[in-house]
Amino acid sequence: VSIDRAVERRLEASVTVFGPASLSNLGPGFDTLGLCLDAVGMGDTVEAWSTDAPGVSVSMDPEGFGADLPMDPSRNTAAVAAQAVLRGVGVTHGVHLRIRKGFLPGSGIGSSAASAVAGAWAVHKLVGETEDKAAVVDAVLEGESIASGSRHGDNVLPALFGGLVLVSASEPTRYRRIPIPDTLSIAVVLPQVQILTKQARAILPPQVPLRDAVHNASALAFMIDAFRAGDWAEVGRWMMRDRLVEPVRATLLPCYEAVRTAALEAGAFGCALTGSGPALFAIADDLARAEAVRAAMEEASRCAGIGISGYVCRVHPEGVCAL
Ligand code: HSE
Repeated sequence: VSIDRAVERRLEASVTVFGPASLSNLGPGFDTLGLCLDAVGMGDTVEAWSTDAPGVSVSMDPEGFGADLPMDPSRNTAAVAAQAVLRGVGVTHGVHLRIRKGFLPGSGIGSSAASAVAGAWAVHKLVGETEDKAAVVDAVLEGESIASGSRHGDNVLPALFGGLVLVSASEPTRYRRIPIPDTLSIAVVLPQVQILTKQARAILPPQVPLRDAVHNASALAFMIDAFRAGDWAEVGRWMMRDRLVEPVRATLLPCYEAVRTAALEAGAFGCALTGSGPALFAIADDLARAEAVRAAMEEASRCAGIGISGYVCRVHPEGVCAL
């Protein structure tokens, strides 16, 4: 069956897609909430073409940021996700992926997720499948799990679908896209400290007090409601109320307090780590304010002796897309 399908399928010569960066956790939403970012170049570009040899092979564009990433297809997130797509549609030929990473791995804005969604979507498009992104959800979760050691969807699903996505921590193939107004403006800063997701997950406590778990559950519920309403001040308030994860991870980032304080003093509604850090983000209701917040956050980090780069962006409404 699979060989017939492969022969019948009209294969494109090559397909190029862009997988965007994303924020995850957003304070109380550990492994549960993520937001797709729209900032020029902040994401991975993957070109895919068919090969006669079966399986997936990978090369890295030297102008990108992926020099240290594994080329072994069984350990590369884009390749693992692509392989899962091939397996799912029963195609027997192989695929080559050429990856250009737009930002450094280990930054906290979904590097492995950007690769996984770009790898999966490029191959999905290459083999002539539909525009249905739900078809690759399993594949992108598989790709992400290779990098982080855990099958969580709070970066990959926003990077796949765009916008704000709520995903079950225990059943990550269950998700909901949450519609939000398009006025949200975001400052994202990347301190020059590398924190690997596996390491930042390993330091989390295996058990937490019931009162803190309940607090977080209610904070997340209030925050989602505020997101839907576009009440950014309220979102910012709840974003900073995580009691389970961020207080532990903040210890990995020496400039954490200084940057957070600077963001709030510059007028941000809230500021938090994204994912496992070290990146922090802050929210505002217009780009000019977000720009002032970004500048203040960068200044604070430099004063604390840590190099940093920052961006101002909006929410990417679409997620991974063909170029
Ligand atoms: N939710 C994940 C974490 C995101 O915070 O560990 C990083 O992959």
